[in-house]
Amino acid sequence: MGGKGAVLLVALLVAASDLAAILSCSAAANLYATALPMKPKASPPPQIDAGHGVGAYLPLQGNVYPQGKFYVQISFGNSQNFYSLDIDTGSDVPWVQCEVPPQAVYPRPPMDKLIPCDDPRCRALHASAGARPCKSPERCDFLVQYVDDSAEGVLIADTLTLRLTNGSIVHPLVAFGCGRWRNDKDRATTDGMLGLGSGEISILSQLSSQGVFGKLVAHCLGSRGGGFFFMGDDMLPSGKVTWAPMTRSFHYSPGPASLFWGNQPLGSNLMVLLDSGTTYTYFGLQPYNNFISTLNGHVSKQPLTRAYDDHWLPYCWRGPRPFSSIADAQGYFKQLELRFADGAASMKIPPANYLIISEHHNACLGILNGTEEGLQSNINLIGDISMLDLLVVYDNDKQRIGWASADCSRAFKSATYPLE
Ligand SMILES: *[C@@H]1O[C@H](CO)[C@@H](O)[C@H](O)[C@H]1NC(C)=O
Ligand SMILES: *[C@@H]1O[C@H](CO)[C@@H](O)[C@H](O)[C@H]1NC(C)=O
Repeated sequence: MGGKGAVLLVALLVAASDLAAILSCSAAANLYATALPMKPKASPPPQIDAGHGVGAYLPLQGNVYPQGKFYVQISFGNSQNFYSLDIDTGSDVPWVQCEVPPQAVYPRPPMDKLIPCDDPRCRALHASAGARPCKSPERCDFLVQYVDDSAEGVLIADTLTLRLTNGSIVHPLVAFGCGRWRNDKDRATTDGMLGLGSGEISILSQLSSQGVFGKLVAHCLGSRGGGFFFMGDDMLPSGKVTWAPMTRSFHYSPGPASLFWGNQPLGSNLMVLLDSGTTYTYFGLQPYNNFISTLNGHVSKQPLTRAYDDHWLPYCWRGPRPFSSIADAQGYFKQLELRFADGAASMKIPPANYLIISEHHNACLGILNGTEEGLQSNINLIGDISMLDLLVVYDNDKQRIGWASADCSRAFKSATYPLE
């Protein structure tokens, strides 16, 4: 694992293209041969002491390296099946793999669950994932384009089971895609995507428009793996959260930012997007070039030599002794910082939030050249690696994005939020 195919996920734009007949096709079997068998898993009861509102609090699995994703187990339909879905604040459409043997996938979509083409939910889907003609009036075809792959299928309606923080278990009816990846078999390590963007079709928007809870989502990705994920109201720890206004855009953005390496500026007025569906961080052209030249200058004065050991991570360095953990390497590097809201809101990116210790015990840069990967050259995408051990809150109701340090690997088990 750790291949590029498994690690870069962000929904951007959609091109119309043909939809294979998902309802009748089983040719995808081989493609998904690596799908993990899923077992129903009982969630530990949520324990939170903050707030008086209602939400749902779910444990996360996964890590940045080598898995390249964080995912949650969700139960759709009336079965006892849980699906493991990548949490993705960079896209809207929730979908699960359909009809993909051998197991752990949603069954063939029952005809009575299909959402017709002229349904408002189909229009909402096409507003998020690009309009495309439906093949027939009885069903709503979709195609979601991610940076390195796309998914296609049909929209269906079924219940979702959620345990709320007030103890109730609810079964709201939601619309979600029943589909498959078009290309990459590595993707099959999870059962689909949980789109959490602000568009109407996202799970978050659907649940909030049904009045289940407010339109707020938060994630806490553990540096040692795991963590938790929350949707709803009032999970906020008091006082410790840094807030920036949420910019109106297709993606979650805390507004324009300046970027620093230590005290040295690397760029200003940068468009920054936060995206839990992307493993690494991607800088735009100018900040990336500035960062690499500054970093090279800095590293040349350290007892580090360039290493070429990870195919997907082009910048790696060997230390005087093999690095066994980030703690061994971080002293050779400086902290990056993003300043939002004219400097009022600072997001620190310490070396632990941009370096990976490779299998060869070298330190590799987990910030990549977005332009080279086909992103627009002015986009800076903050991925999982740079949000580790941060509680990140996307508050659509109050139009703000916040973050606070937290020990996310430990947080879910704890009775209170272990904010530092
Ligand atoms: C918990 O909250 C839900 C959604 O607001 C509500 O429908 C339910 O009645 C509440 N349950 C309890 C036990 O208060
Ligand atoms: C990043 O990618 C662009 C486009 O391929 C390239 O022009 C630029 O030199 C790259 N920057 C670095 C530091 O590699």
